Amino acid sequence: MGEATRTVWTRKDLIGIDGLGRDELELILDTAPQFAGVSARKSGIKRVPLLQGRLVVNWFHEPSTRTRTSFELAAKRLSADTLGIAASTSSSVKGETLHDTLSNIEAMHADVIVLRHGCAGAPHILAAAHESHIVNAGDGRHEHPTQALLDAFTMREHIRRVREDPEATLDGVKVTLLGDITHSRVARSDIMCLNALGAEVTLCGPATLLPMEIERMGVRVTYDLREAVHEADVLYALRIQLERQKAGLFPSLREYIRLFRLDNESLKHAPEHALIMHPGPINRDIELAAEVADGPRSVILEQVTNGVAIRMAILHLLVNGG
Ligand code: NCD
Repeated sequence: MGEATRTVWTRKDLIGIDGLGRDELELILDTAPQFAGVSARKSGIKRVPLLQGRLVVNWFHEPSTRTRTSFELAAKRLSADTLGIAASTSSSVKGETLHDTLSNIEAMHADVIVLRHGCAGAPHILAAAHESHIVNAGDGRHEHPTQALLDAFTMREHIRRVREDPEATLDGVKVTLLGDITHSRVARSDIMCLNALGAEVTLCGPATLLPMEIERMGVRVTYDLREAVHEADVLYALRIQLERQKAGLFPSLREYIRLFRLDNESLKHAPEHALIMHPGPINRDIELAAEVADGPRSVILEQVTNGVAIRMAILHLLVNGG
């Protein structure tokens, strides 16, 4: 595992990128390739016994396709038992607290709880009070650490391939995040993860969707799409989160599209090699034109493939240590 052998994983939970060191982030990234190999097996079983007999519970209080199925597959490919709890069918609708629900799940000897919740901080509160390993699968607008790790992994793999350098890092790589930064837990986790890994982050979007004083996170901000795409190695479009916007934060979708959509026209100002990324789900033809989402520079489905390997690495490290 190369560099990975230098660090040992000692944390009980994965709650956020905030507070993790570069060595810990790289340990996760360096652990993932062996698991990517398991999933890509053309013959034999796509499974290793590292979590055999363990119980991983997917507990989702918000809609999810990619993240939920990705964790479920990751657990299954590590040979764990899996259980899914959806908020709409759980006792939370009868008024049970998160603590009580978790105590009951733990009474059945669950090992890992993967939690998605609309309230920022929910996984932190549970992690502090319970023994099981908690993984944050998205808490409100706060963090989405496994998405940030799979994004960083996808960028790093690509750069290693293009430069034909298996040790290449994200140092100095220019990443532009576009769109709805304010409502995006992906943006927050990505910024912290990319900063820690040495990348240079630029944010671009309408002023109403960029938090005040965001520069304090060590990023460059521009409201001009041309400037944002110029020189970028990676263009990362975020979903316009219509469901989280109480106020109309931009005059119209049509104006957003005109000023900020990535399409063949705006890509003319980007370097030839720039990658196109998106966490999904895509609002097709709003933040990304179909020709770009499905075009040759897009690695959006590679992100999804890598998500399983990254989550396998995380589950393995949490349960079995470094
Ligand atoms: C993201 C999420 O739910 O935070 N999606 C995902 O996990 N792949 C981004 C989004 O909903 O826009």
